[in-house]
Amino acid sequence: MASDAEQAAMRRAIELSRAALGTTNPNPAVGAVVLDTTGQQVGEGVTQPVGGDHAEVVALRNAGTAAAGGTLVVTLEPCGHVGRTRPCTDVVTAAGISRVVFAVADPHDLAAGGADRLRATNVDVEAGVLADDAATVLGPWVTAMARKRPFVTWKYAATLDGRTAAADGSSRWITGADARRDVHRERLLADAVVVGIGTVLADDPQLTVRDCPAPRQPLRVVVDTDARTPLGAKVLDRAAHTAIAVADNADDRRIGALRDAGADVIRLPRAHGGTDLSALLSALLQREAVLAFVEGGATLATSFVKAGLVDRVLGYQAPMLLGCGTPLLGDVGATTLTAATRLAVDEVGTIGDDIRIVARITGGA
Ligand SMILES: NC(=O)c1ccc[n+]([C@@H]2O[C@H](COP(=O)([O-])OP(=O)(O)OC[C@H]3O[C@@H](n4cnc5c(N)ncnc54)[C@H](OP(=O)(O)O)[C@@H]3O)[C@@H](O)[C@H]2O)c1
Repeated sequence: MASDAEQAAMRRAIELSRAALGTTNPNPAVGAVVLDTTGQQVGEGVTQPVGGDHAEVVALRNAGTAAAGGTLVVTLEPCGHVGRTRPCTDVVTAAGISRVVFAVADPHDLAAGGADRLRATNVDVEAGVLADDAATVLGPWVTAMARKRPFVTWKYAATLDGRTAAADGSSRWITGADARRDVHRERLLADAVVVGIGTVLADDPQLTVRDCPAPRQPLRVVVDTDARTPLGAKVLDRAAHTAIAVADNADDRRIGALRDAGADVIRLPRAHGGTDLSALLSALLQREAVLAFVEGGATLATSFVKAGLVDRVLGYQAPMLLGCGTPLLGDVGATTLTAATRLAVDEVGTIGDDIRIVARITGGA
């Protein structure tokens, strides 16, 4: 049973991890705190940007010799494998830590087993402490590792009656400046921002993070079965990396031209409705995109929902009624209520004049 000091340390570790969101990708934002033998905090740390140290290593370095015989409190099970850095379990035992308290188990095929390795060296290990709280930060990463595909957030901006574009095709701007700034902050948390070719042809979006400080840019991804992305499209500027997902039998000359324009062209199987989205997600995970942010349009979003590939919905709804225009989603195959995709609302509030909703998919059709 975790002591009061350990629980307080875990709350601090979770706070640290939350503040690090968006800076550690594709690694999870982990927080760690070291307590000495009397329960006093003597070190803390968070995951460093990719290639840098894991949170445990930073916290133990800060603690120095005061860590000996003490307790490491960490939001994620320490890894027990050699990745870009050496196993955290080795660093923990070398520091003389006698007890490790962690919140969330590591589902990663390679990294899991850290707790067992620690127990094998006589370190006392307690798992699951404040796990639900820690999962509010680590949940998407854990889900991605467990499902072996990126965690997918589908973002939409719609009128109150659920239209994402007017009948004449105009969709800029349904929501206000505050909501749009929030989208940029959300993009920053993602590894890949995904749109269909329809959106590129209609809006020519740049898909970069602009309205907030951006230490890194997510990969821009266009799902474009027949390699129709115009060579002058803004997604092909050099402001960020871009991947274009095309069918394996798309025109070789078009593919060559897109590669010459700097795109990473990913050849994937054709599927009903366009490109195979499961194959797309596998290809993105291979490129270390753990968190995908699907920005539409409705055609692509419908395919993602229908395939059961959406984990989280981020909706912005403007106090505006159109009555006609493009519906938020097309036919996802649910013809009766019992077949509906079910969600749990995690957050609801206003942002500027708009409504912001965050919901998690809880059950499929
Ligand atoms: N309000 C919002 O949140 C929002 C966001 C984005 C866009 N929009 C608006 O939405 C409109 C564009 O939407 P859209 O529905 O025409 O375009 P879209 O969803 O961006 O792109 C659709 C195209 O993606 C390609 N695609 C490839 N694989 C697919 C698959 N598995 N499933 C579905 N599509 C696949 C298809 O073309 P190929 O077969 O040629 O590959 C398809 O026609 C514009 O008016 C834009 O302004 C609104």
